[in-house]
Amino acid sequence: MRITIKDVQEMKRIAKKIAMMTAYDHTSARIVEESGIPVILVGDSLGQVVLGYDSTIPVTLDEMLHHTKAVVRGTGRALIVADMPFLTYQVDEAQALLNAGRFLKEGGAQAVKLEGGSQIAPTVRRMTTIGIPVMGHIGLTPQSVYQFGGYRVQGKTRSEAEGLLEDAIALEEAGAFSVVLELIPSAVASVITQRLSIPTVGIGAGVHCDGQIQVLNDILGLSGSFTPRHAKRYANLEENMQNALQEYISDVALMQFPTDQQSYFQNKETSVELNNL
Ligand code: KIV
Repeated sequence: MRITIKDVQEMKRIAKKIAMMTAYDHTSARIVEESGIPVILVGDSLGQVVLGYDSTIPVTLDEMLHHTKAVVRGTGRALIVADMPFLTYQVDEAQALLNAGRFLKEGGAQAVKLEGGSQIAPTVRRMTTIGIPVMGHIGLTPQSVYQFGGYRVQGKTRSEAEGLLEDAIALEEAGAFSVVLELIPSAVASVITQRLSIPTVGIGAGVHCDGQIQVLNDILGLSGSFTPRHAKRYANLEENMQNALQEYISDVALMQFPTDQQSYFQNKETSVELNNL
């Protein structure tokens, strides 16, 4: 049985912090789940992290579904939340419901995540009413990067902070089970967290959120030389992988791979036959 949105909400009630992580494929999802992460986001950050786009804007519904299915196949216990990509939920409400439904019906996810506050609250309301759990996402919402003029901290002024609080409350009232707070001052995230009864999950939003989410490749050292300020490297897998691959190249060149241990042998009779060829 997978962790449910009620379990996640219970974690807030009992003040147990929620460690959430992104994953984009079968192998990474399996490893993330086995490490004990209860909630996995198939983030549209896969645009940059996996597909090599320079933002999340080009990510398509089909790409998200493809990766969501792989993550679901690699897990059995974690709650899987799938990001709805740009323009799959903002234009038309009926289309938004159908698209969200595809993540549950075809993708196998248990919830979807939508970017935006008060303006998408009516859509969130419709989704949650028909049984589609929604995680909100406010603050720096990467699908609006061109509108923001870059990946900038949001909510620094009093009026922006008030706007974020209103957005968070609108999402809670619309039935969202949780809300991501991205790149906002810690003090603002702290107030929002206290005012909501649903869990907040921060990324670059300080330590007072009910949970934290990070991009897997950032914390494992798999995102080149750049690590965002809000991320901490817990490993340097890129270096480990390069070292392993260079050792392999060298072994091949020196005929030290494969050894007998990685090779197969004939039985005696076959060996005789081959000698007579
Ligand atoms: O796409 C993503 O990875 C996200 C997280 C950064 C919250 O939306």
